[in-house]
Amino acid sequence: MDPDVLRVLFSEDDIHKIVRDLAQKVQKDYTDKVPLVVCILKGAVIFMTDFVREYNGQLEMDFMDVSSYAGASSTGEVRILKDLDSSVKDRDVLILEDIIDTGATLQSLTELFGNRGANSVRICTLFDKPSGRKVFAHTDYVGASVPDEFIVGYGMDYNERYRNLPYVGVLKPAVYTK
Ligand code: PRP
Repeated sequence: MDPDVLRVLFSEDDIHKIVRDLAQKVQKDYTDKVPLVVCILKGAVIFMTDFVREYNGQLEMDFMDVSSYAGASSTGEVRILKDLDSSVKDRDVLILEDIIDTGATLQSLTELFGNRGANSVRICTLFDKPSGRKVFAHTDYVGASVPDEFIVGYGMDYNERYRNLPYVGVLKPAVYTK
């Protein structure tokens, strides 16, 4: 285990089971459809690569990087750092996220894709931190809930580090209070 990690919350095996279950559930709902699966960079990239390999059906992949503005007056504003290559018009969009915290990113993206004419927009998040919610964010598929702690690994970072840990763990507070 990385010395900066206090404890493991989800092992590699735990994550594999969660991702496989999510992919199977999603697949059942998209029979006869070819979803455009959108990975929100960078946190969701590891989840994306595992998810698509557990999904036994046709799909297309695209990637987007955004920064959103949370707060009481959030109106779905989103700053696009890297936009999609594909058009979402008339597409069934499935957004993949590693974690929902305040809800601002997902609220913004759902609104954005709706405005761009998507046929449907669904959200699949590996983890949800309900204690962090500031704005409403609808979720369709949730892998697991996580406590109000600083978690890293499997795509999630602190100052860009720890994304490559194959498990999800709680970061030692000493690391981010230095
Ligand atoms: C994280 C995570 C989500 C977002 C969730 O991304 O990957 O995209 O925050 O937070 P929210 O619900 O409060 O909007 P981050 O901005 O840290 O970028 P990263 O994925 O590149 O680490």
